[in-house]
Amino acid sequence: MIIRNAQFVKSSSNYSECPPADKYEYAFIGRSNVGKSSLINMLVKRKELAKTSGRPGKTTLINHFIINEEEGKPKTGWYLVDLPGYGFAASSRTNRRKWKSFTRDYLIDRNTLVFLFVLIDSRHDPQQIDLNFIHWLADKEIPFGVVFTKTDKLGRSALNKSMATYKKKLNETWENLPPLYITSATNKTGRDEIIEFIGETNNNLEERK
Ligand code: GTP
Ligand code: MG
Repeated sequence: MIIRNAQFVKSSSNYSECPPADKYEYAFIGRSNVGKSSLINMLVKRKELAKTSGRPGKTTLINHFIINEEEGKPKTGWYLVDLPGYGFAASSRTNRRKWKSFTRDYLIDRNTLVFLFVLIDSRHDPQQIDLNFIHWLADKEIPFGVVFTKTDKLGRSALNKSMATYKKKLNETWENLPPLYITSATNKTGRDEIIEFIGETNNNLEERK
């Protein structure tokens, strides 16, 4: 699939403020600073479409970006959604509670959400907060895949080791693993796999209509 255009639509501070649910959407979630916004920019080949920052907690709203909308045809295109990060220790308790409620509403109620990419920093051992979140997704039957980020920071053998550890951890609970993607926004690796997956999924959904 070719990304012909990408445009910011809106930031929503509440599930109810999200744009009308009339297009397929693919969302990105994970700990603060894991690289969600950077990955979106890499996928659409736009440096600053989604705002990134070295400081965690940059994205605090649900941000919709519309991809491949055809001019004059408002029913075309699909959404990429940048979600706020979780597990940001310096964030206030009120903020954390708010994160939980509106992202939970979004993830459970958004019936046009096709697939959720859960981003994991490839440099770290499996973190409980991510594993808990993955368990919750599986429990709620929300389709998801795991995206390992910042793989440019690891050498090949360290990366392989890190991947193996993660897979082993997931295999403790599940026989079948979710799709796994290995990415670096810096080196632009893993882009084609994710874009092809989205393209194929969109086609399958269209055919089933
Ligand atoms: P929040 O919005 O705060 O939840 O963060 P985020 O997950 O959107 O992370 P963001 O994309 O803002 O990136 C956080 C930091 O990690 C920035 O300094 C990025 O430049 C850096 N970063 C993101 N992706 C990569 C990557 O693939 N490789 C390297 N080396 N750095 C990356
Ligand atoms: Mg962000």
